[in-house]
Amino acid sequence: MSEEVKIVEVGPRDGLQNEMKILSTEKRVELIRKLIGTGLRFLEGGSFVSPKAIPQMENSDEIWDSLRSESADLCFLVPNQKGFEVALQAGVKSIAVFSATSDAFTRKNINRSVEESLDQFEPIVGEAKRKKIRVRGYISTVFGCPYEGFQDPKKCLKVTERLFKMGADEISIGDTIGVAHPRQIASVFGLLKKGFDIRKIAAHLHDTRGMAIVNIREALGQGVRVFDASIGGLGGCPYATGSSGNVATEEVCWLLEGLGFKTGVSVARLLAVAAWVEKEVERALKAKFYLSGPKHLYYDEPQSME
Ligand code: HMG
Ligand code: MG
Repeated sequence: MSEEVKIVEVGPRDGLQNEMKILSTEKRVELIRKLIGTGLRFLEGGSFVSPKAIPQMENSDEIWDSLRSESADLCFLVPNQKGFEVALQAGVKSIAVFSATSDAFTRKNINRSVEESLDQFEPIVGEAKRKKIRVRGYISTVFGCPYEGFQDPKKCLKVTERLFKMGADEISIGDTIGVAHPRQIASVFGLLKKGFDIRKIAAHLHDTRGMAIVNIREALGQGVRVFDASIGGLGGCPYATGSSGNVATEEVCWLLEGLGFKTGVSVARLLAVAAWVEKEVERALKAKFYLSGPKHLYYDEPQSME
């Protein structure tokens, strides 16, 4: 039996939030349905943030309304109490709160210091857990911040500890601007696995310098088995200039299946969804695997690896 790896598809949130073309609610729903059709079971559906800040994520409650009966875990970002109230009203089953290691980034992103953001999330996470809502915690800028530069891994440990203590089920470690080197990956995840259950820790890598795949290989060696990725490499963070999209889902699945892990996701189907989304966002996707096309897919289904 191959070991399972969990893929969290963040394209419908992290991807679309940074696209110039704003997709209609119907198109966003269609994208998520297509992604579920590839075998993905964990996806971000949107975020309950200010539409003035991120107009691409407006009406995320309608996305949930249309997809609540799908057999997939759909997670929605919550930046503050107001966003949490929208989440409760909509009845979502899975939320993500988000902080960082860097105060400068957190201020730009959600108008708070790291400490203030965690103080704000504590009652939100507590209430969510009482209501049996799954909670993911994001930590941004772990490997580097566009404003503060290199980040000491101890900062990440501190935020991780706080988020787990308040009740987060899973914590996603973000290379927000894609500057991590495999040695840094080994150092951060090596420390995390000593202090926490590594099965509850995800790697969220943006691919600005093309290092994400080699960084995933390194993270696998440290025991990480949850990876965030975005279809066709869509995405970036609007508060981190120069950051490019997340590592492409098709590339991550190809790597993992090739290494003998089981993702449950069809690479061939992902490539078809990437072609669809490229037309919808009206810009050429840059992910290399997608650009090379569906030729030479010597395997495309997990089973054919046996
Ligand atoms: P604030 O400054 O506390 O807001 O939070 P406020 O209470 O001062 O209100 C300001 C205005 O925003 C008011 O509207 C509020 O009603 C409204 P106005 O009176 O001006 O018309 N407002 C809201 N509207 C809708 N939903 C809400 C909400 N809260 C306040 N929840 C806030 C400001 C955080 C909401 C705002 O700055 C915001 O929405 N920022 C966007 C943050 C975001 O989405 N960032 C990207 C996601 S994080 C990311 O991408 C990184 C990640 O991928 C990991 C990685 O790569 O590292 C996760
Ligand atoms: Mg991100």
